[in-house]
Amino acid sequence: MADKKIIAVVGATGSQGGGLARAILADPNGGFAVRAITRDTNKDNAKALASQGAEVVSANLDDVESLKKAFAGAHGVFAVTNFWEHFSGEKEKAQAKNIAEAAKAAGVKHVIWSTLEDTRTLMDSSDKRMPMLQEKYRVPHFDAKAEANAHFAGVPVTYLVTSFYWDNLYMFGLAPKKGDDGVYSWTFPMGNSKLAGMAVEDIGKVAYGIFKAGSQYIGKTVGITGENLTIEEMGQKLSKGLGIGPVKYNAVEPDAYRGFGFPGADEMGNMFQVYRDFEKQCLGARSADVARQLNPQLQTFDQWLAKNKSRIPL
Ligand SMILES: NC(=O)c1ccc[n+]([C@@H]2O[C@H](COP(=O)([O-])OP(=O)(O)OC[C@H]3O[C@@H](n4cnc5c(N)ncnc54)[C@H](OP(=O)(O)O)[C@@H]3O)[C@@H](O)[C@H]2O)c1
Repeated sequence: MADKKIIAVVGATGSQGGGLARAILADPNGGFAVRAITRDTNKDNAKALASQGAEVVSANLDDVESLKKAFAGAHGVFAVTNFWEHFSGEKEKAQAKNIAEAAKAAGVKHVIWSTLEDTRTLMDSSDKRMPMLQEKYRVPHFDAKAEANAHFAGVPVTYLVTSFYWDNLYMFGLAPKKGDDGVYSWTFPMGNSKLAGMAVEDIGKVAYGIFKAGSQYIGKTVGITGENLTIEEMGQKLSKGLGIGPVKYNAVEPDAYRGFGFPGADEMGNMFQVYRDFEKQCLGARSADVARQLNPQLQTFDQWLAKNKSRIPL
């Protein structure tokens, strides 16, 4: 362990960071070691990482001093913030600022910041197609992460632009639902545009590829996807892969979706509308080829589905 480069992984007990932690642990001769960061070292995911050989330390993204201690002596830091825990763009930015400040103080050699694009650059501030949220954002969890990029100025950083997790189908309840008539259907405001999606496990594996590449990606933005598919195409694949008959796509307008009332419906409505109305820019910002170079095991939707179908509630 002493001769290995330590990667301090924020979010190691979660999806993105967990994927990176597991990728490093699965490659004992790769020259890297995991320092898993969590607020609760006693939780099951933390204990599982410890049993697989990770060092598990406690720190909180709201407490910069705890991060400085957690990053001390590390070669690299993987940084992700969790918008969905608090739904606040301002809080995400404050947490990213703490991460950047602590990484500077600890003198780490490479930070990967899991970010997203600033959707406000895609339309005029006077554009009325979607509401502003939290006063100044179009898609707060995108725009705030993009704003937070500036905090990493002066840090040896790679900006990792991620994609929609296919795992949302079981994690966020987005799978098709069976109607009283026995027909499965699902509802999105995506028209016929393609959605850049990927297996969340692959985000961590790509991040590992970036760390392994040394300084090559420092100062660069790396946008990744697994496969870009329309909702209709995903439905056809689900129908075949799950053996559930045709999946009916209810293509609603974003305004209708925003009005559905579940927590974050307005945010998700804006996000899907950005993917629908600015398909070229969203897909252009992400590359499956780059993702595959960094992670040769990159999954397609069908491969992801074959592996995860038992998790999808039917
Ligand atoms: N869902 C999607 O399709 C998608 C796509 C692209 C990007 N994203 C972005 O991904 C982010 C979430 O990442 P994820 O899915 O990997 O999250 P996740 O699985 O929900 O896990 C969240 C992780 O963040 C850690 N964490 C949260 N608050 C913390 C704090 N104050 N201090 C220390 N650690 C903290 C948690 O650690 P402990 O609880 O153990 O402390 C946990 O490991 C969101 O911001 C979202 O915008 C999501």
